[in-house]
Amino acid sequence: MTRALLIDTDPGIDDAVAIALALASPEVDVIGITTVGGNSGLAATTNNALRLLEFMGRTDVPVASGYDEPYVRAKMETGYEPVHGHDGLAGVDLPQPITEVVSTDAPAFLADKIRNSPDPVTLVAIGPLTNIAHLVDQHPDVIPMIDRFVIMGGAARTGNVTPVAEFNIWHDPEAAKRVFASGINTVMVGLDVTHSVKTFEHLWGWLKDGSKFGKVFDHILTSYTDFYETFYGERMTHQHDALAMAEAIWPNLMELEPAFIDVECQGELTTGMTVTDTRLRNDVKPNGYVAWTIDGDDFHQKLMSALEKMAQKVS
Ligand code: RIB
Ligand code: CA
Repeated sequence: MTRALLIDTDPGIDDAVAIALALASPEVDVIGITTVGGNSGLAATTNNALRLLEFMGRTDVPVASGYDEPYVRAKMETGYEPVHGHDGLAGVDLPQPITEVVSTDAPAFLADKIRNSPDPVTLVAIGPLTNIAHLVDQHPDVIPMIDRFVIMGGAARTGNVTPVAEFNIWHDPEAAKRVFASGINTVMVGLDVTHSVKTFEHLWGWLKDGSKFGKVFDHILTSYTDFYETFYGERMTHQHDALAMAEAIWPNLMELEPAFIDVECQGELTTGMTVTDTRLRNDVKPNGYVAWTIDGDDFHQKLMSALEKMAQKVS
């Protein structure tokens, strides 16, 4: 049985890898993409989603844009050079899109797709949860219709923007709090698992084959690796979004533990922290799962195999 996949995203270099993985995986049928502000502004993330789909020959996948500003708070400036470049894709040489969005109302687009899908729908969010918070506010009837909800975001025990907050949650903590409290059972693929997988630069060597796909993805991934070398001292990257996408495509690829997850929105030091309770004492019921581990070699084999298939289609 094919599973329908909806992707909410802020492309973004690792988002681009995750989208290519989904498009190249026969296990899922990508029925729509919605864009959100995060790695870059909404105009850039939307432009990137459109031109990535055109580049990969998948303009059949409809794109709807969503929210640029966070759910309730003003956008927090990160204060450092954008990890993904000012255009969100490291200034990659990709033509401007010809296609346009089918809607600028991402929540309504997602709700319509969920209500009318003949196949069970997996919603995977790999950016800030702003659109999803508005979805559960504006279309609460679809919550029980979502077969599975997987996010890249948060962490039980660490952070990247701060010692305790991960970027997608930190960027819009109130949205994340709203989503975790909404009744959607959330699989949180956070830094606990994404930081456990290092994608060293040599694994991308095959991209230097002179192909169209290779040139584009070699450019964006070299830029991403340059950033990681500066921050982490190694020529590697954490493919956060592709890891979450892998869990969406191959359910239970990761070790998952039931948990009650809430989000700190007030703390001077802890805003954006996903407070993750796996103790579940005193009648506390889980509202999701925290992902702890994955077989990194298996993930890399699945990822590179899918991307090599996509590369053959594009070139
Ligand atoms: O913290 C990693 C997340 O933040 C990823 O989704 C990446 O694309 C950035 O949005
Ligand atoms: Ca992202």
